[in-house]
Formats: sequence, structure tokens, C-alpha cells
Amino acid sequence: MRSFLSSSSQLLSLAVLAISPVLAVWPVPETISTGTKVLWVDQSLHVTYNGQPLPWIYPCAPSTGAAKFSSKQIVQGAVARAAQYVLKDNFVPWMLYERNALADSEPSPHKDKKLLQRLVITQTGNDTVTTFKAKAGEVDESYKLAVTEEGVARITAVSSIGVIRALESFSQLFFKHSGGQIYSNLIPVQISDKPQYDHRGILFDAARSYFSVDSILKTIDALAWNKLNRMHLHISDAQSWPMEVPSLPLLAEKGAYSPNARYTPEDLALIQAHAVERGVQVFIEIDTPGHWGITYEAYPDVVAAWGATPWQDYCAEPPCGQLKLNHPAVDPFLDTLMDDVLARTAPYSAYHHTGGDEVNFNAFALDETVGTNDSTVIQPLLQEFFDKHHARVRKHGMTPLVWEEVVLHYNVTLGDDVVVHSWLGGESVGEITAKGHKVISSNYNYWYLDCGRGHWLNFANGAAFEQFFPFNDWCTPAKGWRLVYSYDPRAGLSEEQAKLVIGGEAAGWSEYIDEYNIDTILWPRASALGEVLWSGRIDSHTGQNRSQLDAAPRLAEFRERMVARGVGSAPVHMPFCTQGRNATACEYIPDA
Ligand SMILES: *[C@@H]1O[C@H](CO)[C@@H](O)[C@H](O)[C@H]1NC(C)=O
Ligand SMILES: *[C@@H]1O[C@H](CO)[C@@H](O)[C@H](O)[C@H]1NC(C)=O
Ligand SMILES: *[C@@H]1O[C@H](CO)[C@@H](O)[C@H](O)[C@H]1NC(C)=O
Ligand SMILES: *[C@@H]1O[C@H](CO)[C@@H](O)[C@H](O)[C@H]1NC(C)=O
Ligand SMILES: *[C@@H]1O[C@H](CO)[C@@H](O)[C@H](O)[C@H]1NC(C)=O
Repeated sequence: MRSFLSSSSQLLSLAVLAISPVLAVWPVPETISTGTKVLWVDQSLHVTYNGQPLPWIYPCAPSTGAAKFSSKQIVQGAVARAAQYVLKDNFVPWMLYERNALADSEPSPHKDKKLLQRLVITQTGNDTVTTFKAKAGEVDESYKLAVTEEGVARITAVSSIGVIRALESFSQLFFKHSGGQIYSNLIPVQISDKPQYDHRGILFDAARSYFSVDSILKTIDALAWNKLNRMHLHISDAQSWPMEVPSLPLLAEKGAYSPNARYTPEDLALIQAHAVERGVQVFIEIDTPGHWGITYEAYPDVVAAWGATPWQDYCAEPPCGQLKLNHPAVDPFLDTLMDDVLARTAPYSAYHHTGGDEVNFNAFALDETVGTNDSTVIQPLLQEFFDKHHARVRKHGMTPLVWEEVVLHYNVTLGDDVVVHSWLGGESVGEITAKGHKVISSNYNYWYLDCGRGHWLNFANGAAFEQFFPFNDWCTPAKGWRLVYSYDPRAGLSEEQAKLVIGGEAAGWSEYIDEYNIDTILWPRASALGEVLWSGRIDSHTGQNRSQLDAAPRLAEFRERMVARGVGSAPVHMPFCTQGRNATACEYIPDA
């Protein structure tokens, strides 16, 4: 449709700009309007924050790890990163224009060059300690952003977290010219935006495989680009215990895969502070009472069924091991553990995940303090266990999370404050909200990103080989970004129940994932989840489900930004589908 245009590059560029659909900003803002005028931007951009000049240079200073945050420091860091993304880590969008049309589509850097001169940031509310470790509903992430033809950008937000979100949207308005200069061709811009869900995150499993601190920090950066605000750090499991706990030193000494595969208290503080500075809250999960195997090597008194075989009768994955339910050593052990760990994580996070998934009752038959798998014996002990364990969390001013089995399978009565983490799909979210609990969803049919990669177990030739051929994993197939994008965690709920769904997490269980392949596992699929949770599955303007045809070009553009910023997201689709910015080129058309 563009071929009729004359070969005069000036004419062509004006015409192409005029018909380019608007792609900018992932996840899509609540309202956005853009124009087709051009502004250039360079190092001379002058930034103010609440009327005061805000000097910026990139790269922004690394976090010190200290749990002391000032609004100005937060905003200054966010400005430095936005400047880096705009001016340095940007991309030439050849893959978004028609084949070989880039040169004719770009604005001319020589003619009537108008500069973005000022970025005026106004924060209308005061941050508090709560702003930086908010529970769902406790921080206002909304913002307004406008960029005028005259070259002034204005950001208004109630909190510094809103300013961070606004700067992210701002950074997505700009492209790199093939000559190296930076421009936006979407001017004037007006955006008004706020999230639909308060808890928008990923589950990062740093226990089954080891991830360097740097790889975790990089993932936190990418979360912030997607306006995701939670990293659930699953930091212990049956296979390894990488977290150093000074009052229980044997946990990491015996439980980490290697002395080099440990997280010191300083590492954890750095991870959490780095995240806070990006509007992301990292909270940890120490799964209980299951998923506890390797700690037997450190503190054998508290662990039952260590290494029990055949393992599938006693646990979900080898090596087996479960906290004993009735041994006098367990309470003092957990008191010590929680006081040590939570005193250090509470300054940065409002939540602690207490686990509770896949508790195997047969393992309690090997626990001499229980001696049976009879649920009438075990159920009251589990009730007592979670009552006491959640009190340990509340003692530090934090809110406990649990996996859904605790309430739906073990029939444990939970405090009203507890947030239930659903993963089993089906009617679970409805059942949990019917009991009045807040819920986050990681429905494995949609939001388990580790699925569909084949089995990680080995099967010897013979019966096992024959039984498991062709070696699919339990939750095959893989969940592509379109499937991730199709899931509405509030679907089918009453209005009252829907309000209890505070968000969700894309899970990246790491049997098969480490820092060398995590980028393509998480991205762009967690970006798709990011738009569902920030913008909503249903477009409030139309009342309809958001369309892949609308999402694909924007996601494809955003993927290029992620790659330019150093995160190796998988493609959204091949350039044939992105060129011309028109998803209908790759649309499936049903037979008439
Ligand atoms: C923020 O704090 C300042 C200084 O304490 C005060 O003057 C101002 O009214 C506060 N603003 C809001 C919105 O609460
Ligand atoms: C409980 O243990 C008995 C005896 O070992 C076994 O037959 C039964 O299958 C177990 N029940 C469950 C639910 O695993
Ligand atoms: C929980 O309740 C359900 C439904 O009544 C029952 O099937 C299940 O056995 C109970 N679980 C335990 C651990 O008591
Ligand atoms: C959105 O999609 C879901 C799943 O395909 C469907 O059940 C639902 O009816 C759709 N909602 C609307 C408003 O079209
Ligand atoms: C996309 O391409 C189709 C088919 O060529 C065309 O009808 C449609 O107008 C195009 N859409 C946009 C937004 O350019």
C-alpha cells in the first residue's frame, strides 16, 4: 500500500509517518494519544524534579544495598537509566518498516531539527517507608506523561514509583536513526496510565539451579521495563540451599551446590535494594514443610524421609525430605531461621512466601514424630505448623503467602491477611476467593514458562524408556506468548471475588534453566503477562479481549528494545511478520 508513493524521500517519509500505526509503549497505557511530528533528543536535555534541576549522567550509580531510600535518589536513578535507554541502548527500527523502506521512512536529521529541551517531573505526593515495600494497594503507580511539539516533556505522578513507570513509557517513545541520532516521530504524546493489578511478577527459582547475582539484577531491570513489580525469589529447595544464614551456617555450607554458589546477606540486600530502586519488590520463599531435602545434611534432626526411595512415593522430585511435623527441634530451628532471615528482608519487602506445595503425606509415615500418612492425624499438625509459622512472619510486620494446597488440599484455616498463591488451574482461583482470601495466580496451564521443554529426568533403556517415551515433561506443551496473553485470572468471577485477585506471577522453575538460557525462557512471554496484569486482559475501552493483532506489533517492537538493552528476549515472530508494522501479514484467516 506504500508502493504508490513517489521516490522523493522527503515526500515518502512524511507519508509513511502519517500512516504508521502507533506502536509505542508496552504494556499499553490506559489512554495514549500520539501524533506524527518529530522531536530529536540529545545530551543537552534539561531535567527538573519538583522545580529543582536534576543533573543526570549514565550509567546510574550501582545500588549500595542499604535499606535507606530517598525519593530524589530513586528518581535520579530512574532518569539516568531512561537517558541511557533513549540515548545509548536504543535501536534502529528497520524490522518495523516495510522491506528496504527504512531510509525513506526515517525523519531527516538535517531539516528543521527540533529538540526535546526539557523534561519536567512533578511528584504530587510524598513517599513514605511503605512506598518502597508496599503491600498490594499501598502504593500509587499511576502517572501522566505529555510531550509537546515545542519540545517539553512533563511527567506527573503521586509517588516516585509512578515517576519510574512514567520514565519507562517515556523511554519507549524514541528510536535510533540509522545516522546515530535519536528521535521520536510520535509527537505530541499524551498518556494517562495506571495498573489493573497490584502484584505483577515472576517466580525466579534460584535454588534448583544457581544464578549469579548479576544475572538476577539484570532480570530485575527487565521486570521494570515491563512495569512488573514483584520478583518472587524461590531461594531454597530439596536440591540446594544457596542462601547464607549466619545463625544457621551449615545450611549454605552443606546445602549450596558449591562455595561459589551462595548468596551472602550482602548479596541478598543488594538484590533487594537494586529492585526497590526500580520499583520492584523482591520477596523470598523458603518452602515449608516440603521441598526440604538437602538440609538434612546440615540439620538432620528436623528433616524426615531424607533420600527416601522410590522417591516418587515420598516427594515430587528427588531428593526427598520434609520438615518433621512434631519434633521438639523444629520450632526453635524455624524461630532462629525466620528471625535471622526476615529481620534482613523486612526492610525491603512486605511479603514472605511460606510455601506449602506438594507436601507428601507418605513422608510423614517416615517421620518418627508422626508415623503415619493418615490425613486425620496429619491435618491438625499442619494446621498447628502453619499457625506458628505465619506468626513468625507477622512478628516481622510481614504478610505470609502460601501455595494453594495449604487451604484447598490440607484444609488449613488461614488468617485473613494470608495471600494464597494458586497454580493448579481449574476452579482454584474461584474456590480460594470464595473463601475470602486474596489470591495471586500462576495457573500452570498458562503461566508456567518452564513447561514443554522435554523431561529433565533420565530414563534407562527398557521399561522406563518405553513408559516415558517421547519424554514429555508433566506440563507440556510449552506456553507460547499468545497463550500467556490469553489468560485472564479474573475470568468468570463475581465482582467481589475478582477484587480479591491481586495479580499473578509467571513461573520459571529452574530444573532446566540457568543464567545462560533464562532470557529466552522469560522473554517475551513474561512481557505478555506484564500487559495482562498492567493493562488488563479486557480492553476497558471496547469491553473486548485484547487482540493478538494489536499486541503482536507492539510486543515485537518492545522485544527489540529489550535486546538493545542487553536482555536476549526470544523473537515475537520473524521479521516478515513485523515489517510494515502490520500483524495481518501473519494472520490466520479461517476458510469462509
Ligand atoms: C509533603 O511534605 C511536605 C514537607 O513535609 C509538605 O509541605 C507537603 O504538604 C506534603 N505533600 C503532600 C501531598 O502531602
Ligand atoms: C498410606 O500408606 C499406606 C501404607 O503404606 C499405603 O498403602 C497408602 O497408599 C498410603 N496412602 C496414600 C494416600 O498415599
Ligand atoms: C480436606 O477436605 C477434603 C474435602 O472434604 C477432603 O477430601 C480431604 O481429604 C481433606 N484433606 C485433609 C488433609 O484432611
Ligand atoms: C475473552 O476470552 C475468553 C477466553 O477465550 C472468553 O471466554 C471470553 O468470553 C472473552 N471475553 C470477551 C469479553 O469477549
Ligand atoms: C494491514 O494490511 C492489510 C492488508 O494489506 C490492510 O488492509 C490494512 O489496512 C493494514 N493495516 C494497517 C494498520 O496498516
